[in-house]
Amino acid sequence: MLGVTGSIAAYKSALLVRLLVKAGAEVKVIMTPSASDFVTPLTLSVLSKNPVLTAFTDAESGQWNNHIDLGLWADALVIAPATANTLAAMADGVCDNLLLAVYLSARCPVFISPAMDLDMLKHPGTQANIAKLRTYGNHIIAPTDGELASGLSGEGRMEEPENIFSILDNFFHANLPLRGKRALVTAGSTYEAIDPVRFFGNRSSGTMGFALAESLANLGADVTLISGPTHLNVENRSIRLIRIESASEMHAECMKYFPEMEFTIMAAAVADYRPENPAGEKIKKKNDSLSVSLVATADILKEMGAKKKAGQTLIGFALETENETENAKSKLDKKNLDYIILNSLRDEGAGFNSDTNRVTIFGRNGTETVLSLKSKTDIAKEIINLLISSNPSQ
Ligand code: CTP
Repeated sequence: MLGVTGSIAAYKSALLVRLLVKAGAEVKVIMTPSASDFVTPLTLSVLSKNPVLTAFTDAESGQWNNHIDLGLWADALVIAPATANTLAAMADGVCDNLLLAVYLSARCPVFISPAMDLDMLKHPGTQANIAKLRTYGNHIIAPTDGELASGLSGEGRMEEPENIFSILDNFFHANLPLRGKRALVTAGSTYEAIDPVRFFGNRSSGTMGFALAESLANLGADVTLISGPTHLNVENRSIRLIRIESASEMHAECMKYFPEMEFTIMAAAVADYRPENPAGEKIKKKNDSLSVSLVATADILKEMGAKKKAGQTLIGFALETENETENAKSKLDKKNLDYIILNSLRDEGAGFNSDTNRVTIFGRNGTETVLSLKSKTDIAKEIINLLISSNPSQ
């Protein structure tokens, strides 16, 4: 939640909104009545992808903007810029506008970035208010020194949006175990065209790959998810989702991102074969039988294994129906993987069309971990925790 108050520095709020949205945050903006003299609600609404709230009741729809719900919704409340007047009201518990009421209702961490002329900032009244807000546990982002809109020079400039963003990023993510790590995950099936309307595909839903991507992102990793056709969408908006259709498109995207990745998990069920010459027009029904010649697709995982460098961890999946352990271990070797995650189609509740899974994880150095039947979200969390705690290549 971003609160914007009536200071010339309000133009910088637009940049802050952009940075937050780009990083995957859902941003709602509340403006005090005088803030819109400096920046239009439309600007902040377009950038935040949400309606901007300016009053207790929406002027057009008559809808009540429930300050309690808004205060509880926010994971962080950032007030940037905060004027001397808003600081005073917050310090005294005044709540005669929506932003102040949300401030009083919010249980989340509050960050305040004051902006004003140097003498207003120096005034003992303002300084006392800032000190008081600190005692409430609010985080004050100190104004910086420099040229002010008044023409005077001194302390009072709102901190730059990039720095406010870093302060927030550090506050929320500094202790996450995968912070600064890049991860690539693939998910779903691939569609191999037979003609413009038909394809060969498989039953993979993408659920396991999406759950792994969410789990990695929630632990601070910078995640790129390459997915075949699926109705699924990402929840953590910091995940870079790339949708592809065919094995060759997946191959191209994977090879683009793989070199810079610390973790790569190939959860996609990539087609091993594709029609050699997809028809340009829809194939008409003619004879009793139809033959389609298939050619092998590139084995993406194997290529990654061959190119893997120190510091890169590569994980594959194996879906087997017989000789499961033997086949999985042989893929681990052949594709030069660090781990292979075995799904057995023989297991009830495991595999493609299920929200649950039961897997065995074989490690390069002989480890074997069995994860009992549970939701794919929980399986994903356990897989990622295992990678963090026993990572052979990092
Ligand atoms: N895989 C891949 N590229 C392909 C086919 C599969 O990267 N063209 C990856 C899958 O994402 C999975 C792993 O390889 O992580 C295992 O896939 P699988 O099809 O079971 O392996 P294959 O070596 O093709 O063995 P087989 O089909 O004979 O079981």
